[in-house]
Amino acid sequence: MPHVTFLHPDGKSGEVPADLTLLEAAEALGFPLNHDCGGNASCTTCRVEVQAGGEHLSEIDFEEQDLLDREALSEPWHRLGCQARVTGNVIVRVPEKKWEAPSAAGPAEAKQVGRAS
Ligand code: FES
Repeated sequence: MPHVTFLHPDGKSGEVPADLTLLEAAEALGFPLNHDCGGNASCTTCRVEVQAGGEHLSEIDFEEQDLLDREALSEPWHRLGCQARVTGNVIVRVPEKKWEAPSAAGPAEAKQVGRAS
């Protein structure tokens, strides 16, 4: 089973069944990942920053990319927790504040998070 880590002061880490979304994985691990729109790809409060294992997340689809672009979160390490599905081990950072400014630079690996560009 994939091992998922949520980096945050109250973060959680553990194994979850494959093919869960990061939001579902957070719920399974007892981590309260924000999800104001209920997981419908319309709010970005579930945004995470991929630190490692981006190749173990599902490909980003048009709907997710469109919302991230509209919120100026176009860098490849940003993913929506409600849309990205886990296929292997992954580490993501969760912004501490709901509207925390996105990181100016992600990890080197972020260039390989599986986005078609
Ligand atoms: S929960 Fe709203 S975009 Fe993911």
